[in-house]
Amino acid sequence: MKVTIVGGHGNVSLRLARLLSPKNTVTSIIRNIEQGDDIKSTGSTPFVLSLEDSPASDFAVAFQNQDVVYFSAGSGGKGGPERTKKVDYEGAIKVFDAIEKVDGKKKPRLILVSAIDVRDPEKIPSHYNEADITRANQARSVLATYMKMKYEADKNLVQRTAFKWTILRPGTLSDEPGTGKASIGRTHLTPSISRDDVAKALALLLDREDAAGLAIDMVGGEVSIEEGLDAFIKKGETDFLG
Ligand SMILES: NC(=O)c1ccc[n+]([C@@H]2O[C@H](COP(=O)([O-])OP(=O)(O)OC[C@H]3O[C@@H](n4cnc5c(N)ncnc54)[C@H](OP(=O)(O)O)[C@@H]3O)[C@@H](O)[C@H]2O)c1
Repeated sequence: MKVTIVGGHGNVSLRLARLLSPKNTVTSIIRNIEQGDDIKSTGSTPFVLSLEDSPASDFAVAFQNQDVVYFSAGSGGKGGPERTKKVDYEGAIKVFDAIEKVDGKKKPRLILVSAIDVRDPEKIPSHYNEADITRANQARSVLATYMKMKYEADKNLVQRTAFKWTILRPGTLSDEPGTGKASIGRTHLTPSISRDDVAKALALLLDREDAAGLAIDMVGGEVSIEEGLDAFIKKGETDFLG
């Protein structure tokens, strides 16, 4: 397939490009050409655009003829709340708009990396225990803008019908080696999940057009990622609760 990764030099994206490039044609969107050699070493092709500075029309050109677009960009908390808004919310909306602007009937499918527990703060999921609620409140007090911007982006996406989309919502990311296992679906908010394993789930979703319309929670766990994703998709119950 033809695949474009927005946020191409990110820690998850580099892993994803390595997994996909042997069998697919991968392009990685970066904002700094100095990262080009790192991208090439994953087997992907760099393409320079900035979520903050380039117009949606330039992204639409980049997405032409692509089967799948991944969005795994984020401000990483650098540049304060203003930049979080610009990258995690406005950048995401720019990408959604750009997919809609792609010429012709066939729009690329979008696989978006969001985060676990992104929701209306008033709506506490019924499967949360006390530890989850404490953790959710802590995260909202430390990462208030981040959680809000991810929520606003996801809320916008779930209303779109012009293209197919899937949202992956990992828990806290770690750089531990992947285990190939996770807990997928209505989980608790811990333990953390390795970036290797998130990349693996994203790579598996490439072939899962039947995951369209679903938001998928993922934290560390003991079930094979392939089986966990398959069971989740067959059940067809989204984890985005509004
Ligand atoms: N950290 C966590 O525990 C956690 C938990 C759940 C979900 N997530 C989400 O998971 C995703 C991937 O995480 P990660 O660790 O791979 O993130 P990361 O390493 O911080 O990568 C984010 C990428 O976004 C790029 N980016 C930032 N501003 C941009 C702009 N204006 N235009 C184009 N690209 C831009 C960055 O480019 P530069 O290299 O140029 O800065 C960077 O390569 C993010 O969306 C994050 O919010 C993270």
